[in-house]
Amino acid sequence: MGRTLTFKIFRYNPNKDNDSPQVESYQMEETQRLNVFTALNTLRETQASDLMFDFVCRAGICGSCGMMINGRPTLACRTLTSDLPETIELYPLPFFKLLGDLSVDTGIWFREMAEKVESWIHTQEEFDPQATEERMDNDIANKIYEAERCIECGCCLAGCATVQVYPDFLGAAGLNRIGRLMNDPRDQRGDQEWFELVSTESGVFGCIGMMACDDVCPKDLPLLEVFSYIRRKLSKIELSK
Ligand code: SF4
Ligand code: SF4
Ligand code: FES
Repeated sequence: MGRTLTFKIFRYNPNKDNDSPQVESYQMEETQRLNVFTALNTLRETQASDLMFDFVCRAGICGSCGMMINGRPTLACRTLTSDLPETIELYPLPFFKLLGDLSVDTGIWFREMAEKVESWIHTQEEFDPQATEERMDNDIANKIYEAERCIECGCCLAGCATVQVYPDFLGAAGLNRIGRLMNDPRDQRGDQEWFELVSTESGVFGCIGMMACDDVCPKDLPLLEVFSYIRRKLSKIELSK
């Protein structure tokens, strides 16, 4: 016999007059291979038509469905209820702007981060659409590919103690982006520019290194490796000054 699941869901619409935060309970029979995203859809269809949460891909690709599931930031569409106890508590990711219930706006933060780290290839070379594509060393291409797998879900930030107390901190997602650009031989930023970008409390010195981000990243990005790479690169810059 299947389990009866109890969902305790944070409900609050900041755009509705006189609404106040509360937790509401809903019950549902568990079906085979049920994931939290599908359960939320069913709840919205049958019990809570105004429930707000985000999704696009349902395949762990778009990063929209990040939320706190029993206290852990993760993706609803990749979380099977069979891996959870009968009572499932759902809260929106902390740190991001709350849009309502389980829906947050991660886009504001990611845009600001991209602007802060100038997330584009810095080069003086003129773009020539006719030029043959330049070859890249396989190891470097793989490192860039790994960093590019970030889906901007925000789970690493929701699990990071530093961003909660110091919102300017770039977090794992920001440092991962910097590592991606540092690794790219086409980005011609010099040592001094990298040093100024990351050798601050917003950068790598703000990180306390307990690696909660690494534990919760649903894409298993090699964040520890990225942080070590940035620190190594910084120490070399200091030594050569
Ligand atoms: S190691 Fe800790 S402080 Fe550093 S980015 Fe990850 S969660 Fe944040
Ligand atoms: S580093 Fe991982 S947890 Fe952080 S935003 Fe990217 S995919 Fe999500
Ligand atoms: S809906 Fe796209 S990652 Fe979950």
